[in-house]
Amino acid sequence: MATDPQAPPREFDFPVSSPFAEGLGQSFLDEVPEVEEVDIGEGADPVAEFRRTLGMFPTGVTIITTQAEGQVHGMTANAFMSVSLRPPLVLISVDRRAKMNSLLHEGSRYGISVLGDEQEALSDHFAGRVLDDPPEARFLLVRETPLVDGAVAHIVARVVRSYWGGDHSLFLGQVEFARSRPGAPLLFHGGRYEHVLADAPVFGALAPERLERLLASGEERSYADGERIVAAGELGEELYVVLEGAVRVERGGALLASFAQGDLFGEVAVLDGRPRSADVVADGETRCLSVSRDAIREAIAAEPQVAWELLGVLAGRLRDA
Ligand SMILES: Cc1cc2nc3c(=O)[nH]c(=O)nc-3n(C[C@H](O)[C@H](O)[C@H](O)COP(=O)(O)O)c2cc1C
Repeated sequence: MATDPQAPPREFDFPVSSPFAEGLGQSFLDEVPEVEEVDIGEGADPVAEFRRTLGMFPTGVTIITTQAEGQVHGMTANAFMSVSLRPPLVLISVDRRAKMNSLLHEGSRYGISVLGDEQEALSDHFAGRVLDDPPEARFLLVRETPLVDGAVAHIVARVVRSYWGGDHSLFLGQVEFARSRPGAPLLFHGGRYEHVLADAPVFGALAPERLERLLASGEERSYADGERIVAAGELGEELYVVLEGAVRVERGGALLASFAQGDLFGEVAVLDGRPRSADVVADGETRCLSVSRDAIREAIAAEPQVAWELLGVLAGRLRDA
């Protein structure tokens, strides 16, 4: 018998409302296992240790948003996961004591905004932390659902199922809208924020006049739209500065980042000489300055203070790691 690949399978075809708890899906509470102590080893506080163990799983940080009676509500959450591509489904886990838990129900929509590297203050703010200088959140409205402006990814999902999840509720959402932009996401690991190191500047962190001297012997090159400037896998022999136009950083055809006039790229590969991790392609007519490794080495030999500053930048990156 022919089946429609888009149609949910029969086991999905339950009524969403539950006889057990309002707003929750098929939650067979009598099938929930007895609570058992977690085996976490000797002498530790079980809850703290369990939390610490779970915290070793690194995640991004999202703001879950919804609109109820004209009011926007946002909540920081890292318990977000992708579930299915066809149909497009995502899942969030919300503390039953959180206000958000009382606002979400079958048929309601929630927004997911995946925070960018520089949006840590918004994460604290929507986690209810009191800040001296609270950030001002700006929202975009898509399908009557607020989304946090400036995030690296936006999703709007409609709750199709909710499940009992102990002291949390799980809300399975059918995705109606999804957009992303290049950029580094904010990370969370071991109970604290982390940052993607690959995007942190190295030479770009030097004082402008020092950087200018370091780049002085660079060669200008022009590229046509779509022309490859560096290829993934080739050894990093040169550092580049975008002089005019823009470039796209791509891996396997997916856009990872884009750089515009004044931006540097190839900063790490030129130092360690290892193979480049991505392609860089001209986005329109583009002019770049290319500075060879040897030229950089000579410039540093002539001005050893630069080496000391670079060590400072690299030490800062290690500290952040
Ligand atoms: C990085 C981070 C991740 C969090 N993840 C979750 C989560 O996945 N689910 C949850 O219920 N609370 C999570 N929280 C806690 C909520 O953000 C916090 O309890 C918030 O105050 C709840 O807001 P509400 O009661 O106004 O809805 C997280 C907090 C932080 C800082």
